[in-house]
Amino acid sequence: MLKSLYAAAAIAALALSACAEPASEAPASGAASGAAPAGEVNLFTARHYASDAAVYAAFTEETGITVNVLEAPADQLIERMRAEGARSPADVVITVDAGRLWRADQAGLFQPAPELAEALQAVPANLRHPDGHWFGFASRVRVVVYAQGRVDAGEITDFLDIADERWRGRLCVRSSSNVYNQSLMAGLIDAVGAEQAEAWAAGIAANLARAPQGGDTDQIRAVAAGECDIAIVNHYYLARLQRAEDTADRAVADAVGMVFPSLAGRGAPFNISGAGLAANAPNRDNALALLRFLLTETGQRQFAELTNEFPVVEDVAYDNPVLASYPEISPDPVNVNVLGENAAQAQRISDRVGWP
Ligand SMILES: [Fe+2]
Repeated sequence: MLKSLYAAAAIAALALSACAEPASEAPASGAASGAAPAGEVNLFTARHYASDAAVYAAFTEETGITVNVLEAPADQLIERMRAEGARSPADVVITVDAGRLWRADQAGLFQPAPELAEALQAVPANLRHPDGHWFGFASRVRVVVYAQGRVDAGEITDFLDIADERWRGRLCVRSSSNVYNQSLMAGLIDAVGAEQAEAWAAGIAANLARAPQGGDTDQIRAVAAGECDIAIVNHYYLARLQRAEDTADRAVADAVGMVFPSLAGRGAPFNISGAGLAANAPNRDNALALLRFLLTETGQRQFAELTNEFPVVEDVAYDNPVLASYPEISPDPVNVNVLGENAAQAQRISDRVGWP
């Protein structure tokens, strides 16, 4: 029995490094530069940004610790870790949206890390799990993008506005089952209660210009193409188009504007990219080092510059002309853990009102 467990663990480790090779250059460059044998850390991440590799490379350079990256969609990571149980090689888990972090936590994939308590003081309390099971290392906000020339920015100051019938047939948004929309609805339930949230969702369903399709970038393109006049997206999808090399992408960005509506008067609906210490974490100390690194000035600056997310640590200097162009945004102070708690109810409501 014991022997077969070891064999399974070895196979899991092999599979991990096989998957890791194309995903990250960090381990290779760390080894090539003759880094001390400081060991390794196994990172399971649902983030698909090549730019994250820059953060891991900086970590390896500073610590000598090799980062083995396993990239997969969040639900696959959760299922895999569940199946692996105590044999899981995962040390650190990273995913986007508090709804997904909540799901992973419910599946028992995290453990509290008391050693991080001091470092986590730098993260606003509402952007981390109440008992320290995970924390946001970067934040994002759900926004409304509108067609320049067909919509006036002043027409939308709150998400409640876009359920109004004057937007009939003019709204693009992806499926209600997408976690970004679940979390938006979950926040609204917290703000105004289930009944008013259902009325809002019914308005959204009625206002759709087309059946939901594609991701957030597709909604922005649809606004630029005239298929719809407004769209609900995460801010960084537009920021990415604004900073694109491709002139066609920049033309799409130029055709639209963006506002940061409040969620039922409470402030803009922020969410996070988050991380936590895996329940098993065979390389616990290295895992803690990587988690701390995400909150260093180097880590924070890179997320702001490379993925257009907001640092969670205050007063981090970064160079990103798009983020710098935003007005002051007042965030919804809700603890993002609530977005996970209300997600199932949010989905039931969306299903009931026929938001596909
Ligand atoms: Fe995203």
